Amino acid sequence: MNPILDQIAKTRVVPVIAIENAADAPALGRALLAGGLPLAEITFRTAAGEEAIRRMAAEVPEVLVGAGTVLNAAQAQAALSAGAKFIVSPGLDAETVKFCLQKNIPVFPGCATPSEMQCALNLGLTHLKFFPAQQAGGLAYLKAVSAAYTMLRFIPTGGIGPGNLREYLAFGKIIACGGSWMCQKDLICAGKWEEITRLCGEAAAIAKGWSQL
Ligand code: 3PG
Repeated sequence: MNPILDQIAKTRVVPVIAIENAADAPALGRALLAGGLPLAEITFRTAAGEEAIRRMAAEVPEVLVGAGTVLNAAQAQAALSAGAKFIVSPGLDAETVKFCLQKNIPVFPGCATPSEMQCALNLGLTHLKFFPAQQAGGLAYLKAVSAAYTMLRFIPTGGIGPGNLREYLAFGKIIACGGSWMCQKDLICAGKWEEITRLCGEAAAIAKGWSQL
């Protein structure tokens, strides 16, 4: 397995981050690390996203930093230049996928339908984001759809939290789940690093099967 994919599959929970102030990125990275989730998907949803990737990747190298909400190949290039090690998109864009494959960078396009999954498969991918997971039909829907695609593995994101994380991770075709619940904007803006660490710790414990939630 690709070492980046391997680290995502080992950590099992991908914190999805929208950050307003890139100066907060190092402290946030240390909070994720302290909570046992050395992984961050920093999205291009805010103007600070690219610089936040650069700062977290440079200043907290123990955290594997990827870019989220990457909408095109130019953004993917910007993310890679900033230090992102993987690319996540909400939807499937062939140019972005081809660009990442050419650079040998793991890319996880969001797919919610069989047609999208099949397109991604035919572009050469085996690991996809399933988005928006809960709203698209949840685990029952993913189980039904993925039955046709035995070679695909998924990172569901959207509507996942401590209440349903364990259930998702119990499905063998799911390598990890993404979510923003442990690093909400208000917590980041208020610098509530201990609370972020606590929420990450809770998620990490569920992922490791420690909690009875
Ligand atoms: C994403 O882009 O991956 C989602 O916005 C994360 O979904 P959540 O906010 O429901 O966790």
